[in-house]
Amino acid sequence: MVVFHIEKWAFLVGIALALYPGFGDCANILGFLPFYGKSHNLVTLPYFEELADRGHKVTLIGTREPRNVGPNMTFLKLNLKPSGREGKRFDELQSASFFTTTLLLTHLLNSYDIEIGLTDYDKFLEIKDIDVVVLEYFESELFLGFVSKFNVPIILIHTSEAMPWHRDSLAEPLELSYKSHYSAFEDVANMGTYRSRLLNTLQTMSILAYHRAVMVPLAQATAEKFWGPTPPLVQLAREASLFLVNTHFSFIGTRPMNPSTIEIGGINIFPPKELPQDLQTLMDNAKDGVIFFSMGSVLKGTSMSDDKRDAFLRVFAELKEIVLWKWEGDLPNKPANLHTSPWFPQRDIFAHPNLKLFIGHCGLLGVHEAITEALPIICLPMFGDQPFNAAALKRQGFGLSLEYASITEEMFRETINRVLKEPSFKENAKRVSAAFKDRPMSAMDTAVYWTEYVIRHKGAPHLKSPARYMAWWEYHNVDVLATIAAIVLTVLILLYKMTKSFLTLLFCRRSHIKVKTS
Ligand SMILES: *[C@@H]1O[C@H](CO)[C@@H](O)[C@H](O)[C@H]1NC(C)=O
Repeated sequence: MVVFHIEKWAFLVGIALALYPGFGDCANILGFLPFYGKSHNLVTLPYFEELADRGHKVTLIGTREPRNVGPNMTFLKLNLKPSGREGKRFDELQSASFFTTTLLLTHLLNSYDIEIGLTDYDKFLEIKDIDVVVLEYFESELFLGFVSKFNVPIILIHTSEAMPWHRDSLAEPLELSYKSHYSAFEDVANMGTYRSRLLNTLQTMSILAYHRAVMVPLAQATAEKFWGPTPPLVQLAREASLFLVNTHFSFIGTRPMNPSTIEIGGINIFPPKELPQDLQTLMDNAKDGVIFFSMGSVLKGTSMSDDKRDAFLRVFAELKEIVLWKWEGDLPNKPANLHTSPWFPQRDIFAHPNLKLFIGHCGLLGVHEAITEALPIICLPMFGDQPFNAAALKRQGFGLSLEYASITEEMFRETINRVLKEPSFKENAKRVSAAFKDRPMSAMDTAVYWTEYVIRHKGAPHLKSPARYMAWWEYHNVDVLATIAAIVLTVLILLYKMTKSFLTLLFCRRSHIKVKTS
């Protein structure tokens, strides 16, 4: 009887283990993270850490060390310097636009011409028996030139809204009539006017043309300089098995996507931890609520101009709420309700029920954290995808956006009061939050599932859209439409000619008759 029980127990455990995703086929995964930016790594590192925790053997080549280096996680350091944006001053970034974003990305790509030489890439090629490579895909296809040497399926991961060239490589529809791109001048979604569609089309096409004409050749030359003969990088990109992208339609809006593109928006969000005791007490006692103000890890508050800083201080001093401001160093004339610190546990602060408002630069990580806790936001977008996220925020109605350069004390005061007083902002935050969190699998489980899927199906070639292998004129059916237009035109011309000769005949006969009778 006892024996039977043990057998039954072992049998059940066996079944459970066999059903546990990934068990029994733990894979060798190579991660390649060439971007130093902290916000990038806050998205990508947890994903690799999770893969290792679940028993895969992960080798991570990157700039920042994962938390779980050990039997399942090997870390190899890339000697890449900061991408030039770390520690930027506020005033330098005031005019973030489509052009400055493009220039920043070109600058980043240019810097690799020196930086790649600082690391011994041949040493990486000694890594053997890899099942899949996961590469962060950002400003260009450059690093595909290296990881393609492993000759295994490639998964691309991107930490914000996809760039137009990402969609182009993977034959994702661009939907120019109603989807703005990453660093659009203005939001066209839901506008659909002639002007917005024209602007969006011109911007997106010019950014794609720029990418093809400048970035791709630059990346190709750099790849060949360091890693020898390299197939066309664009061709390597279109062979990618999967594209993991850190967005979610509940916030950014819907669009058609191929099955090879998987949204993992919110993958960086973990359950909140306990707050430090002093902060917990402060927030518990804040009867009128708390406002949290932080411009993220790149922008230092101390680099803000004095008049802007003083304007913010005067507005904060009038509020009955407690204000927490991520600020490095001393602050003159600090009002009693203002508390500063060079670092705050943002995720955990967001989870406190007394937090009423988040003021930030609209980086996607902070936005996703705020959405998770149904928090209204005031955005001061600076660069990159921040203006794009701010546009989505306004469209979804759970916050407002201010242009930092032109902000005045009066505008700042009015905007804060509006978001705090009008109930629609909180209601919309709750609506978006509920939709953001309601998924069949968590963002992390989704990312891990599809990664293991690609491994199980040996690169899952069936996910690739045939459109990836078509020329633009084939994809848009330009030749077919031209043929149809030619046929219609020929028929119309024939009809016109026939009618004309018929009428001429009629007219001539009549005139002939007329001439005769007269
Ligand atoms: C490493 O992987 C094994 C399975 O291969 C797993 O049982 C173990 O929990 C993992 N260890 C850590 C520290 O993640």
